[in-house]
Amino acid sequence: MKILITGGQGQLGREMSLFLQEKREYAVNAPGHAELDILNADEVTTQLKAWHPDVIIHTAAYTKVDQAEAEPDEAWRVNALGSRNIAVAAEEVGARFVFLSTDYVFDGKKGTSYDEWDGPNPESVYGRSKLAGEELVRMVSRRFFIVRTSWVYGPYGGNFVKTMLGLARAGKAVRVVADQVGSPTYTYDLARFLERLLRTEAYGVYHATNAGFCSWYEFAQAIFEEAGIAAHLEPCTTEEFPRPAKRPQYSVLEHKAIRLNGWEDLRPWREGLRDYLRRSNS
Ligand SMILES: NC(=O)c1ccc[n+]([C@@H]2O[C@H](COP(=O)([O-])OP(=O)(O)OC[C@H]3O[C@@H](n4cnc5c(N)ncnc54)[C@H](OP(=O)(O)O)[C@@H]3O)[C@@H](O)[C@H]2O)c1
Repeated sequence: MKILITGGQGQLGREMSLFLQEKREYAVNAPGHAELDILNADEVTTQLKAWHPDVIIHTAAYTKVDQAEAEPDEAWRVNALGSRNIAVAAEEVGARFVFLSTDYVFDGKKGTSYDEWDGPNPESVYGRSKLAGEELVRMVSRRFFIVRTSWVYGPYGGNFVKTMLGLARAGKAVRVVADQVGSPTYTYDLARFLERLLRTEAYGVYHATNAGFCSWYEFAQAIFEEAGIAAHLEPCTTEEFPRPAKRPQYSVLEHKAIRLNGWEDLRPWREGLRDYLRRSNS
């Protein structure tokens, strides 16, 4: 099976690419931004027609959540139009299409977890632009998987886990918001799920995060406990730590589609974290 991964140098793109290559049953092509710019529709079509993938995993995105508030057009161009370009070309070559999306399509005000059939209501530019991408994919593609995930970390690229460890090792006091709740997701576990999904024709929307939930503060606590670091950690509120982009307060994603299909869920977030830290030390 031939698989093309957009954003091949990103956090998830790199993990996905290595994960699939290890399986040996896939031919993987994972161009980075410099090799395949998703904004160039002609180039996208040319490259996809030349390589003719069976599956496209679209991880390329504008992911700078706060910066997006200052440059909304750039975020929309990449997350909406760029995704449309890939979806159009995927249709032309008859490829299955996996689009990565986010818990930020929800406003977080429901107070309980969101399932795949709950109505989105994004409150940030990033969230709105990703939802626009989802809508264009639904319009263009006949064989799509929209996979919403959250709080992603892994070995490739910067993320919350690395930031926390860096601050603690530098002996700095760390204040982390305790009133935003979600689900941390290890790229390796997400890659495993995506590999399972892409072999099916069970098209539709999926929520895929590590199981369970916590606040960012509890996540930081777990990082220090699992890493065996005594950090000076204090909780704070969103109000005390204002950011340009509004985040959902409670964006736990219920894995209803995984459950209804009778598939194994992703493992609990703390197990994923433990495994990530063990691997990054070995
Ligand atoms: N990270 C999270 O916490 C999180 C949470 C929920 C959902 N997601 C979604 O999961 C997916 C993967 O996220 P990630 O964490 O792997 O993000 P990432 O590390 O920021 O990777 C995104 C990649 O897309 C590339 N890109 C940006 N504009 C492009 C363009 N015009 N053409 C081609 N490539 C372009 C970036 O390259 P440059 O850096 O060179 O621009 C980067 O390598 C995204 O769809 C994201 O929205 C992420």
